[in-house]
Parts: sequence; structure tokens; C-alpha cells
Amino acid sequence: MRRLATDSKAAADIRASDFDATKHWGRVYRTTPDDSVSWYEPEPRASLEALALAGIPPGAALVDVGAGSSRLVEHLLDRGATDLCVVDIAATAFETSRARLGPRATQVDWVVADVTAWRPERSFDVWHDRALFHFLTDPAQRDGYRAALRRATVPGGWLIVATFAADGPERCSGLPVRRYDGPGLVAEFDEDFTAHDVWRDAHRSPSGTIQPFTWVVMRRR
Ligand SMILES: C[S@@+](CC[C@H](N)C(=O)[O-])C[C@H]1O[C@@H](n2cnc3c(N)ncnc32)[C@H](O)[C@@H]1O
Repeated sequence: MRRLATDSKAAADIRASDFDATKHWGRVYRTTPDDSVSWYEPEPRASLEALALAGIPPGAALVDVGAGSSRLVEHLLDRGATDLCVVDIAATAFETSRARLGPRATQVDWVVADVTAWRPERSFDVWHDRALFHFLTDPAQRDGYRAALRRATVPGGWLIVATFAADGPERCSGLPVRRYDGPGLVAEFDEDFTAHDVWRDAHRSPSGTIQPFTWVVMRRR
């Protein structure tokens, strides 16, 4: 029995090392209508609330990492945003967003990159992440994410991150996630950032499932 357990762990390790995030997410957005994915929301209510809590003005430079085909960009453009950047590992997600935005797509900087290896060449007033960070189950991935975050922000800059809560789903899009309560999520960033607001929110998926999220707004020291 022990032998079997060891073998199956080794097999799981091999599967994890074989995992290709670019292929996985590319396929997700190629094969699933964007309003059917479990994280779909017609209006990015909680993100807009987070921006309001931090008092972020419409003209702020904002990067949305793991943006997927989220509607946050058009909501921000509608509010007068002029400096928006979106980052995602899946180019297919951006094809959907660009088609939706039409000519307004030229007002957004579209970056196809793995955020854990991304080396931004500029800084932003706001770093926003709804539901990417919880996929980073390997500590080295989280270190890479923080390295990008550090390069992309300066003292006074804002960090808005939302992950599945500690009692949220254990998997998303077929992948395991790391779940966080408020103090746990704050601790991931408190070397450089101070907590401003921490709260729970519930997302209702298109199939009607309620998914508890932890949201944090933090400010760089
Ligand atoms: C659950 S979806 C959330 C999408 C979007 N933030 C929203 O709220 O609708 C997670 C997104 O993170 C992207 N993603 C996953 N791992 C990534 C990585 N290492 N670098 C960049 N994007 C990644 C996926 O392609 C996907 O679009």
C-alpha cells in the first residue's frame, strides 16, 4: 500500500511538472464562451468597490493581471480611464475582449505573459488581480509574482487582490488552488504593503454556485 501511495505521489509530481499553463488557459478561452466560465461576472462590482474604497481616481494607471476576458477594462474606460494595461497568459482571452471593445481596444495595452516571469518596464498606480493569485500553489511562483509586483509599483501604489476564501472552492478550471483568509492573504504581501481594507465577498457563478472570496486592498510603503 505504501508503495502504491509513493508511486501515485510521484505520478502526481510528474503531472504537475508537465502542466503547461499557457496551453491550459489558451484552451479554456478557446473552448468556453466567456460568459460561461465560472468566474464570469457581467459587472465587476467588487473590483469597482475596491477601487472606490482606496479612493482611486479614474485617471489612475492600472494594471489588471490575469485579466482574462473580464469586463473591468470597459467599465474603467467608461469612467474615463486613460492608462490601462491588462496581462494574461492566454492570448485567446484577449481576442474575446478586443472583439467586444472594438475600436476602443486600442486604448488598452495588452500584454500576453506569465505574470510570475513578467518583468514590467514601468510602474502603475494600481495593481489589480481578481482570481489569479490563488492558482500559484508553488512558493517559487508566488515569489515571481511578488517580483513583478515590486517592479510595477512604487511607494504609495495600491494593490488589490481577490482569491478564493479559506472556505471557498478547492479547485477552479480543473486546477488546484491555494485558499486564503484575510490575514493569510495580507501576509503574502506585507513585506512591502500595508493593509488598508480586508473583506469577504460572494461571487455567484453562471451556474448559480456561490463562491466566497477574500479581498484585500493594500498600499505600498
Ligand atoms: C479565474 S480567471 C480570472 C479572470 C479575470 N481576472 C476575471 O476576474 O474575470 C484566472 C485568469 O488568470 C490567468 N492566469 C493564470 N495563471 C496566470 C499566470 N501565471 N500569468 C498570467 N495570467 C495567468 C488565466 O488565463 C485566467 O484568465
